[in-house]
Amino acid sequence: MTEAELRVSEQAKRIVSGVLRSGGTAVDATAGNGHDTLFLSQTAGDCGQVLAFDIQQEAVDSTRQRLADAGAPDNTRIQLKNNACFADEGVLPETVDVFMYNLGYLPGSGSRLATTAEDTLASLQGAAGHLAPGGVITICLYPHNPEEIETVEKWCAGLTGSLSAFRIERMNRSRPPYLAVVVKEDA
Ligand SMILES: C[S@@+](CC[C@H](N)C(=O)[O-])C[C@H]1O[C@@H](n2cnc3c(N)ncnc32)[C@H](O)[C@@H]1O
Repeated sequence: MTEAELRVSEQAKRIVSGVLRSGGTAVDATAGNGHDTLFLSQTAGDCGQVLAFDIQQEAVDSTRQRLADAGAPDNTRIQLKNNACFADEGVLPETVDVFMYNLGYLPGSGSRLATTAEDTLASLQGAAGHLAPGGVITICLYPHNPEEIETVEKWCAGLTGSLSAFRIERMNRSRPPYLAVVVKEDA
């Protein structure tokens, strides 16, 4: 495996690849530069449905451009919207197979606008309510926002019933980014 393939964002894709089928439904909660949105769009295919969210117009534009450049399937709706709205009526389909979160700043941008503990918690709570049986939520966490990490870890640790949380972390690094994975049991 190359260094690039060891990134947590790539680990997230490997997990999602095992869950998202052609025709499936997926949400990119933090679209950013659209790498994850493109991956979801291509994996879900022509009959699939992808929703992507970001609070920055720059990210929405960048994601839209990436999909166009790649000739991605026409299955994706990109919205300039805070993902904290996931529990609101009508924002998400009733069930979603995959949610991807990649927390932090928009890479390559001058903007310091990043995800926050408060919004991410509200978003995850909403996402969990829509997760399909057998579905998965992947969350890439970076060490620069300890409050957000603590909030996400506490939420993951408190999950009950059909939801379980796992952590994938490179052990031979100090303060590495890591991946939290929430899975819902099959019905
Ligand atoms: C690390 S980047 C995401 C990278 C992206 N997944 C990719 O593949 O390029 C984090 C993104 O989250 C966005 N963001 C921050 N708070 C948000 C929120 N409450 N709802 C939606 N997006 C948010 C930021 O604007 C930023 O673009």
